[in-house]
Amino acid sequence: MLVLGIETSCDETGVALFDTEQGLLAHALYSQIDMHADYGGVVPELASRDHVRKLLPLCDQVLAAAGRTRRDIEGIAYTAGPGLVGALMVGGAVAHALGLALDVPVLGVHHMEGHLLAPMLEERPPAFPFVALLVSGGHTQLVRVDGIGQYQMLGESVDDAAGEAFDKTAKMLGLDYPGGPRVAALAEKGRAGRYRFPRPMTDRPGLDFSFSGLKTYTLNTVNEASAAGTLDEQTRADIALAFESAVVDTLVIKCRRALEATGCKRLVMAGGVSANKRLRAALEGMAEKLAATVFYARPEFCTDNGAMIAYAGAQRLLAGQRDGNRIVTVPRWPM
Ligand code: KG4
Ligand code: ZN
Repeated sequence: MLVLGIETSCDETGVALFDTEQGLLAHALYSQIDMHADYGGVVPELASRDHVRKLLPLCDQVLAAAGRTRRDIEGIAYTAGPGLVGALMVGGAVAHALGLALDVPVLGVHHMEGHLLAPMLEERPPAFPFVALLVSGGHTQLVRVDGIGQYQMLGESVDDAAGEAFDKTAKMLGLDYPGGPRVAALAEKGRAGRYRFPRPMTDRPGLDFSFSGLKTYTLNTVNEASAAGTLDEQTRADIALAFESAVVDTLVIKCRRALEATGCKRLVMAGGVSANKRLRAALEGMAEKLAATVFYARPEFCTDNGAMIAYAGAQRLLAGQRDGNRIVTVPRWPM
């Protein structure tokens, strides 16, 4: 089955063609980051309007790259949520309009299921069951995955997501949006040991996370250095490193607990923050000690993309799931 995947939940227009026999045929991404940068974050109305402009040309670009035409499409999957409602509506409306015109089934899929399954697109995909660490701008979750649609929530953030904490820390340090990669780059120049930030909720049992206290701790540290007149480039780098190390340590501790509690030997990391190099290295070090293996997607499939939606949708379309004649948008949607 040849499935067109469409992702428009936030500020990236992603499109991909996935064939259930031949794998991923082509994919393309248009990022709105430059457009939103002036505002310090995503402006929902601008995001929707830009998806309208970019989505159909991107679909045709992907079809051309795969040497196919619209008539070859056998199913369409789009992100139904969670995300910005206007942005989601664009993807849903285009998917359903194409589906109606081509007379093929259409299905709205969960954005986080897309992230969760993105490592399946790699050469060495994880087998079920596995523990997944989902770390994005809106979510920090530990999930036990026994198969497609068989998800058991083991723990999640009670407040901010890890990516959100990265983005807010970036703002405090005067870095542009999106902050995660920029904080990581600044941390490269940081000196370890100058600051030690708290590892929230690691001193008690359980698999939940909390990052809002760490955010406040970071803000206080920045403000103190600023008041003392010592907030130079080196200090900012030292703070970035202390923050990143605290997030990474916290995630590693919880992942180790989740592997131990479930007895799983496979850990999947997914979502934008899983592109973080220090996190990857630390999780691999931890997993090695437990004789476990870490799986992740290539960097371009860690952040939002159409390929993960095409893959997740293809699995569900193959199983016979369809939307019917209804565009589904679920801005807030627990997995
Ligand atoms: O999965 P994603 O693209 O979008 C959501 O579904 O939220 O994740 C975006 C998040 C942003 O918060 C961004 O700052 C963070 O992922 N991120 C990173 C890195 N690359 C992206 N955080 C830390 N280190 C990175 N290298
Ligand atoms: Zn995402």
